[in-house]
Amino acid sequence: MTHAYTASLADDTTLSPLERVRLQPFNLGLFLPIQNGGWSISTLPRSTDWRFDYNARLTLQAEALGFDLVFGLAQWMPKGGYGGKTNFREVSLDSFITTAALSAITQRILLISTIHVLYGPWHPLHLAKIGATLDHISGGRWGVNLVTGHIADEARMFGQTREEHDSRYARAAEFVEILDQLWRTDSNVTIEGKHWTLNDAYVSPRPLHGRPILINATGSKAGFEFGARYSDFVFIPSPVGVQLEPTLAALPKFTEGLRLAAAAAGREVRPIINPTIVSAASDDDALARYERIRASEDTEAAANFNARMNPKTGSSDAHAWSKHERRAGERAVGGNLHLVGSPHRIVDDMLRLRDAGCGGVQLTFFDFEQDLADFGTHILPLMREAGLRL
Ligand SMILES: Cc1cc2nc3c(=O)[nH]c(=O)nc-3n(C[C@H](O)[C@H](O)[C@H](O)COP(=O)(O)O)c2cc1C
Repeated sequence: MTHAYTASLADDTTLSPLERVRLQPFNLGLFLPIQNGGWSISTLPRSTDWRFDYNARLTLQAEALGFDLVFGLAQWMPKGGYGGKTNFREVSLDSFITTAALSAITQRILLISTIHVLYGPWHPLHLAKIGATLDHISGGRWGVNLVTGHIADEARMFGQTREEHDSRYARAAEFVEILDQLWRTDSNVTIEGKHWTLNDAYVSPRPLHGRPILINATGSKAGFEFGARYSDFVFIPSPVGVQLEPTLAALPKFTEGLRLAAAAAGREVRPIINPTIVSAASDDDALARYERIRASEDTEAAANFNARMNPKTGSSDAHAWSKHERRAGERAVGGNLHLVGSPHRIVDDMLRLRDAGCGGVQLTFFDFEQDLADFGTHILPLMREAGLRL
């Protein structure tokens, strides 16, 4: 029954890919590890690999399991990355090019490229044309995770000074409004904007479904207001840190902020949170695995990461993580919310995240290929039973 419905959803060509995934009660995404170390600043050996072949296998695996979307992060790192024993995140594939390549080998899954639209000389006309092209290649499955760049050192790489937090969102809003006009207006577009000018600009082919998918990743008021006006999904962090119970206590007010902002704009936007799942057959086994990972932290790289992300002392001005407190070893697991336990417990955690206002999860794992396979075998069927997935 469930399978028949899933198959008919997947085959329903009257729905756009975005409309199809919006029918899912709880969305499921995979955050691809296109950077060395993924999210886990750990010295333990594991399969997780930044290379394209590995990420292509993960994407095909996620698609076969019925995941709704994959995406990768965008970062600009100096030599040595975060240093330590692992040179955490020195190496990364470009998120945009990676998802472009994935569009040719997949059929159904949404492919989201993270792009820093305010770095360098991006013109909205560039992205409108490239996006329309990928929209066609992917059959309407492509979208942008539009990030404004919270790390001052990254802007410096481009010879730029990082702009003040909220004015970045104002500039990004102009960028998106121009994109939207280029994608939707079937005539030449002339705009004299504050930051960009267009004279008789036109994009053809037109995107297949109005415009490609838009997402932003944020935990701030300005970011939520931006997402409420423009995004289809908003990737949210835990507002308070990696521990589940305090996160669940803080989430309803947090997600409500986005929901209200979206309602004021006459829209509905789904907040998607990004947990790292550490699971095993029993809660005890999962906890033992979690503690083994925590004990394996590359402490120097983790300290460098924490220092860079600290808005008071570091290079980032992100509001999203400003209230997080880090316990020793948590960076070895990585990410900003940890779900640890048996498959039943993980599904229960996801039900509680849903009840706290999350519209889905996009997942990271410690050992991606094996953990994703285990997720498909042991957790996904329970999600279906619990009504989280069709
Ligand atoms: C799930 C998630 C993914 C993100 N991915 C990226 C990324 O790939 N590149 C980037 O520069 N920032 C990324 N960010 C950071 C956001 O773009 C943003 O700068 C950060 O959340 C701070 O914004 P805020 O101050 O509006 O909360 C991500 C944030 C979240 C929550």
